[in-house]
Amino acid sequence: MNIADKIVIVTGAGSGLGAATARLLAKGSAQVAVLDLHADTAQEVASFAPDRMLPVQVDVADEASVEAAFTKVLERFGSVHGCVSAAGVATAGKTVSRGLALDMARFKSVIDVNLNGLFDVVRRCALAMSGNEPDEHGERGVIVNVSSGAAWQGQRGQAAYAASKAGVIGMMLPIARDLAPYGIRVVTVAPGLFRTGMSGSFTPDLVAELEDQVLFPKRMGTPEEFAEFTLELFQNRYLNAATYQIDAGARMV
Ligand SMILES: NC(=O)c1ccc[n+]([C@@H]2O[C@H](COP(=O)([O-])OP(=O)(O)OC[C@H]3O[C@@H](n4cnc5c(N)ncnc54)[C@H](O)[C@@H]3O)[C@@H](O)[C@H]2O)c1
Repeated sequence: MNIADKIVIVTGAGSGLGAATARLLAKGSAQVAVLDLHADTAQEVASFAPDRMLPVQVDVADEASVEAAFTKVLERFGSVHGCVSAAGVATAGKTVSRGLALDMARFKSVIDVNLNGLFDVVRRCALAMSGNEPDEHGERGVIVNVSSGAAWQGQRGQAAYAASKAGVIGMMLPIARDLAPYGIRVVTVAPGLFRTGMSGSFTPDLVAELEDQVLFPKRMGTPEEFAEFTLELFQNRYLNAATYQIDAGARMV
């Protein structure tokens, strides 16, 4: 898909990977709906190109909030051609800790955002895309879902996070099969270790330990590297129904 003048929804666009992707898409002349839980950060990101970017506050885990956000996006832009679901939380909690089993509310809150919330956004984007005129290649839309290397190599305390991210990978193929007749591609990105808000609280020791498990280059990725890769997923029409790792060869133990 050529993103120029296309309408793309990016969730989690107020920070980190989503923010860099939203900015790069706007730089490429896409019209970008900047969705985030935090209205102030969404506003700040959208100020990069106010004529092409619309900040929208949303809690992806809340169906009514997602519905209201889509109403705003469709009122302003009229359609949706692209969707990047980067909203996510990494609330940690060990299965058993200090004599207590992990609180189910804590477990479910991660699934609600990373898996249920992502699907709610995907299904609404897909519906809007299904009404688009196909382009000259028969394409009506592109959906990019953000998973994580934790889907395969979750760390201690990441049972909920890993389950949610594995779920994103697992549902991709059936969704891609559902949407292929409409000319909509669905792909998943599984990032390794990136320098964002999510990793911002890591201690220097933890960062060093994690970076040691990256092959080359031996450092955290930048949000801009993620954004460039996501742009390629939009542009290359032969990418569909696959999970792409972007991790410099990191294999976490
Ligand atoms: N940073 C990494 O190393 C890394 C690695 C693998 C996967 N990921 C995934 O990449 C995605 C982006 O994360 P990031 O690293 O940029 O983190 P980040 O914390 O910088 O950004 C995540 C954004 O999601 C938003 N968000 C959280 N809950 C939300 C909700 N309920 N509704 C709407 N927005 C919500 C936050 O406000 C924040 O702006 C996440 O899905 C994360 O799991 C990140």
